[in-house]
Amino acid sequence: MTPEQFRAHAHHLVDWMADYLGDVATLRVTPSAAPGDVRRELPADPPLAGESFERLFADFQRIIMPGMTHWNHPGWFGYFPANHSPPSILAEMITATLGAQCMSWQTSPAATELEQVVMRWLGTMLELPSAFTGVIQDTASTATLVALLSARERAGGGDGAVVYASEERHSSVDKAVKLAGFASDALRLVPTDAAFALRPDALHGMLTADTAAGRRPACIVATVGTTSSTAVDPLAEIAPLAAKHGAWLHVDAAYAGSAAILPERRWILEGVAGADSLVVNPHKWLFTNFDCSAYFVRDVPALLATFSADPAYLRTRHDADVANFRDWGIQLGRRFRALKLWWVIRSYGVDGLRALLRKHIALAAEFRASVEADGRFEVPAPSPFGLVCFRLRAEAGRDEDADPRNRALLDAVNADGRVFLSGTVLGGRFTLRLAVGQLATERTHVELAWNLVRAAADPA
Ligand SMILES: Cc1ncc(COP(=O)(O)O)c(C=O)c1O
Repeated sequence: MTPEQFRAHAHHLVDWMADYLGDVATLRVTPSAAPGDVRRELPADPPLAGESFERLFADFQRIIMPGMTHWNHPGWFGYFPANHSPPSILAEMITATLGAQCMSWQTSPAATELEQVVMRWLGTMLELPSAFTGVIQDTASTATLVALLSARERAGGGDGAVVYASEERHSSVDKAVKLAGFASDALRLVPTDAAFALRPDALHGMLTADTAAGRRPACIVATVGTTSSTAVDPLAEIAPLAAKHGAWLHVDAAYAGSAAILPERRWILEGVAGADSLVVNPHKWLFTNFDCSAYFVRDVPALLATFSADPAYLRTRHDADVANFRDWGIQLGRRFRALKLWWVIRSYGVDGLRALLRKHIALAAEFRASVEADGRFEVPAPSPFGLVCFRLRAEAGRDEDADPRNRALLDAVNADGRVFLSGTVLGGRFTLRLAVGQLATERTHVELAWNLVRAAADPA
């Protein structure tokens, strides 16, 4: 591809991108593709001769687009959002164009220093104590693994070490416990209260029993905004227990942490000063393209002790004076992720970001009020953020029918194609989840979701 051809194709693509963003609401949120449909259209072997961009793009439109799920659709209410926004997309274009590999200060001084500044901005927005230093990881799963590896290092190894997290923790905690080399029985699941938040009294009992039995509490993972229902584990009560037992306290605020930029939601991080690390995903609810996961850590030397490697071929004469982010996590090579977060924060401003989050929280509250006003439904958990959990009540004496009825309801709503919700199991019962969090979502889309739910719940 010549530079002039690249220019022409890029212009064409930008037009396509702008059209896509404008038209995405007219597409089905999820494709109607069946397993194998896309693969069948693709040749088994790679081409020997190069093909024209026109052919590549035509096949992208013909084969790939019909099989895509549109996470940025205004009717996207599933899981948690994976955000994007125009300034973030534009930054990703530059990141791809520069193709920089930002493993060390020297391999891209501006990328390292921008990351330091933007993480400090985000720390300020979240009102984190100044003792926390931020670094961008790819995902919250990686950040939690980084925390557990650091905790294991500080605990002097995995032998006899124990990790605590609530019954409602994200599955990435279980994965990280395994990957970090803790014993197969090392993860203790702490019971939750009626609002699905970790019970500090139960944690206290488990810590005391383990210590008496000669086990070593190495890490407590508290969740601020659990995946099923956005429950908030009480950091202010958990932190003193972590301190008493010398355990690393990691806060998984992957989704809900962004809400701490709102003064009226800052309570969710009350007690964070006693934590050792915290992860918040701007790629979930701060309008930044996947991937961008903000990891804040209090004890940087402990992090470096866990991850530093100093091979001769990476050494530079600046190493003593700069941050080399390759030593702040697992991967060596790093994408230039700070640019998109910088542009998002500057484009919207903190007030603009707050207004967007408030809008999502208000729309979720309206949806919740509609559900609560309909006697056929129950709302089993609080909704402090953009998520509402709801389900059809069990009919008298027909408890066993409730889950199949709710699963069928979810399938019927999603089959329409204009909205997408996901499900979970909460308190042992299948529950629908509606998460408001996409940039383009307006009241009409939430009302449409409610109308589809109501209609699908009608026995007629
Ligand atoms: C509470 C929580 N933690 C961690 C994760 C994992 O996030 P990531 O995809 O960034 O690894 C999720 C994903 O939804 C989550 O809800």
